[in-house]
Amino acid sequence: MEPESRFLVGVTGASGVEYARRLIEILGDRTDVIITKDAAAVIEVETGLSAKEFAGRAGMYYRGEDLAAPPASGSHLFRALVVVPCSGTTLAKIASGIADNLVTRAAAVALKEHRLLILVPRETPLSAIALENQLKLARLGVVILPASPGFYGTPRRVADLVDFVVARILDQLGVEHAIGVRWAGPPE
Ligand SMILES: Cc1cc2nc3c(=O)[nH]c(=O)nc-3n(C[C@H](O)[C@H](O)[C@H](O)COP(=O)(O)O)c2cc1C
Repeated sequence: MEPESRFLVGVTGASGVEYARRLIEILGDRTDVIITKDAAAVIEVETGLSAKEFAGRAGMYYRGEDLAAPPASGSHLFRALVVVPCSGTTLAKIASGIADNLVTRAAAVALKEHRLLILVPRETPLSAIALENQLKLARLGVVILPASPGFYGTPRRVADLVDFVVARILDQLGVEHAIGVRWAGPPE
C-alpha cells in the first residue's frame, strides 16, 4: 500500500480504548498505531491486553516514547491521523504546539502539512479550557469527533455504541464500511 494512503491511529490515555481497538480491527494493515505510555495503562485496565497485543493486525506498532520513529517526520507520508480516544492532556498539547511524544508530534506534523487530523475526545463535563482548546483546533480544520454515540438506532450492546462512533470516524476517513446505523427517517 502506498505510504500516502496509509492511516495513523494514535491511542492516548483516555477511557474508551475499545473505539481504537475496533477501528484498528477494521483498518487492519492499512493503519499504523502509536500508543502512549498512559494509554498502555488504560488499555491494561479496560482490556487486560498489553499495548502490543492491542495493536493487533495493524501494520506497525510504535511506542509513544519513540520520537525517532518515521511518523515524527513530515517526510513520512500518511493520509490521516486519528487520535482515539484523545485525552484532554493530548488535546491541550496539540492545541499549544507541544510535540513531546510520537502522538503529539504526528499531530503537529498533520497540522503543519495540512493533513486530515481527527481527534476523538472522551471527557465529561468539559471545562472552559477544554472547550477553548477544541474550538481553537476546529478553527484550524481539525475534526473534533467526540465519543458520543447516538441512540436512534436502538443499540442493544456496548459493541453497537462503539460501532456508532467508529462508523463516524470511517466516514471522515472516506473508508467504505457497513457498520453502525445511518438515520433513514423515523420508523413507519
Ligand atoms: C483508567 C484511566 C482513565 C482515564 N480516563 C481519562 C479520560 O476519559 N479522559 C481524559 O482526558 N483523561 C483520562 N485519564 C487521564 C489521562 O490518562 C492522563 O491525563 C494522561 O496524562 C494522558 O496522557 P496521554 O495523553 O499522553 O496518553 C485517565 C487515566 C486513567 C488511569
